[in-house]
Amino acid sequence: MLNLKQIVAGYGPAQVLHGVSLDVPRGRVSALLGANGAGKTTLMRVLAGLVRPQSGSVEHEGREITALPAPRRVGLGIAMSPEGRMVFPTLTVEENLQLGAIHARARRGYRERREEMYALFPRLAERRRQTAGSMSGGEQQMLAIARALMARPDVLLLDEPTLGLAPVMVKQIFEVVQRLKEGGLTMFIAEQNVRQTLEIADHAYVLENGRVQLEGSGAALINDAGVRRAYLGM
Ligand SMILES: Nc1ncnc2c1ncn2[C@@H]1O[C@H](COP(=O)(O)OP(=O)(O)OP(=O)(O)O)[C@@H](O)[C@H]1O
Ligand SMILES: [Mg+2]
Repeated sequence: MLNLKQIVAGYGPAQVLHGVSLDVPRGRVSALLGANGAGKTTLMRVLAGLVRPQSGSVEHEGREITALPAPRRVGLGIAMSPEGRMVFPTLTVEENLQLGAIHARARRGYRERREEMYALFPRLAERRRQTAGSMSGGEQQMLAIARALMARPDVLLLDEPTLGLAPVMVKQIFEVVQRLKEGGLTMFIAEQNVRQTLEIADHAYVLENGRVQLEGSGAALINDAGVRRAYLGM
């Protein structure tokens, strides 16, 4: 569904990605692993259209979209739950969800979609009139994912969905990812909970200093000696 070819990207003179090629195939869960600063978020932003690469190309269903701005990519069905959640703190849960559906492709059937989100995240249903900023980190993370899903994406980009969360909340987030996977949603997940991610991912890429150092099926990487040493503490 999404293909990156030889992406070089960064911020001003600081180059972060040094020629990254990878694929996010339809109906699969793909994962992006790597240490802090490896360039995972930058890569997510390239896919979402928030960072314009210096060279290389981004393709969606075989069509080049490298220069397509972020809002137009939402129209193609590409939505992101960003690192750090970035919910609107002074707005209620329901208002945050409403903003997730602001794009034309999401407006129709907005109410039904919202109820689907409340079914997926019962915690959000209980807190629909509560301001997002007054919720726990885990609840805000659920809201960030639900807000992205309000856009009716064909592919969901999840940047560190369990960052800073307690184990019980991490488990709940992974359960939601599993349910979305069973529903056939294409996902691309940057994560530091490596074991749980590899258990759920069909395919994973390991990014080191802006380059793909290793890739393989989740099962293969779980058994890779280098991955076990560097990321699983074994
Ligand atoms: N807006 C920015 N301006 C300048 N440099 C940036 C900006 N955002 C990120 N960087 C730099 O780009 C590099 C890669 O950062 P990035 O956020 O992509 O890494 P990451 O793999 O997502 O890390 P983390 O695991 O901490 O989220 C880092 O050296 C970072 O300091
Ligand atoms: Mg990041």
